Amino acid sequence: MLCLGIESSCDESALALVENGTLLASVLASQSNVHALFGGVVPELASREHYRYLGPLFDQLMERSGCIPSDIDLVAVARGPGLLGSLLVGVGFGKALAFGLGIPFLGLNHLHAHLLAAGLERDIVYPCLGLLVSGGHTHIYRMESPSSFEQLGRTLDDAAGEAFDKIGKILGMTYPGGRLLDMLASQGHVDAALFPRPYIDNDNLDFSFSGLKTAVATYVSVQPWQSLPRPLVNAESAPQWLKDVCASFNFAVVDTLRVKVERALNRQTDIHSLVLAGGVAANTLLRREMEDLMQQRGGSLLVPSPALCTDNAAMIAYAGWLLGQHGCHHDFSMETIPRGRAIPDDMNCQSV
Ligand code: KG4
Ligand code: ZN
Repeated sequence: MLCLGIESSCDESALALVENGTLLASVLASQSNVHALFGGVVPELASREHYRYLGPLFDQLMERSGCIPSDIDLVAVARGPGLLGSLLVGVGFGKALAFGLGIPFLGLNHLHAHLLAAGLERDIVYPCLGLLVSGGHTHIYRMESPSSFEQLGRTLDDAAGEAFDKIGKILGMTYPGGRLLDMLASQGHVDAALFPRPYIDNDNLDFSFSGLKTAVATYVSVQPWQSLPRPLVNAESAPQWLKDVCASFNFAVVDTLRVKVERALNRQTDIHSLVLAGGVAANTLLRREMEDLMQQRGGSLLVPSPALCTDNAAMIAYAGWLLGQHGCHHDFSMETIPRGRAIPDDMNCQSV
């Protein structure tokens, strides 16, 4: 089965083809340059860019893969959560293609697809724990099967990636700052007492990163700003004190995630494997800490390679292929679900 995946939930327009569990080709147009000017994603601009990109990307995908449209057996598209206008462009494109080609159509939960992407590189053993850390979400799931996810915890305010990006902005980095902040952190010294590990003195699995952001902003406001290059675009121009701030902030976020994941694993005693996904899964310290944690517990960690961690269409095509084999599909009345609304369990499926 050849599945076309379409991703347009935020600021990456992407298409990919997965055939029998293998990625054939993947194309992506990032809009980060467009939004960098504004310090964050501008929804109206994002939808317009998706509209501009998807057609040419489809032609590019066909050329690159050597496939023709009539080879496609299933169209899978991220239906949410995300920016409504952006999602509508991808979903509309997907429905039109499926209708024109006379093939099934399937709308997917973007967050579940992030976690399932690990299966493109290594087999996921169910049940397992899933930690999704992206620009918009920080969720912990119990994953029972490719179609059954139980949410155990979530962020109450800022997502982990959002915290990275907001601190990056305060420190003069262009949006999104997560990757550069990670790089600077690896050259700094951690002071574990400098910033609080937020919202861990409780017994739940939720997160709250907005207080940490305030703590860093307050600390930074009394530092020698005059020596800070703006915009800060690489590690070479950053003073050591700033690298140390990045290292301590990075540690506070990662350690908070570790505490909650460990708590979840202590409760889900039949689980021995952790899947880490989303853009922040590319973080060097997070990958190392989660690897150590799972090793100490005699379990295993699955993290997709960095290109599969950030938004991409390979994850949508793969999840589509996985579910499509069981006949999962939607009819063309399927709704697009923006951020903040629960995604209904309304796939037409045989048991997965
Ligand atoms: O999953 P993703 O591409 O998009 C969303 O669905 O949100 O995640 C993007 C987020 C951004 O906040 C970005 O700063 C963050 O992932 N990110 C990182 C790193 N690479 C990307 N955060 C920390 N360390 C990194 N190495
Ligand atoms: Zn995402």
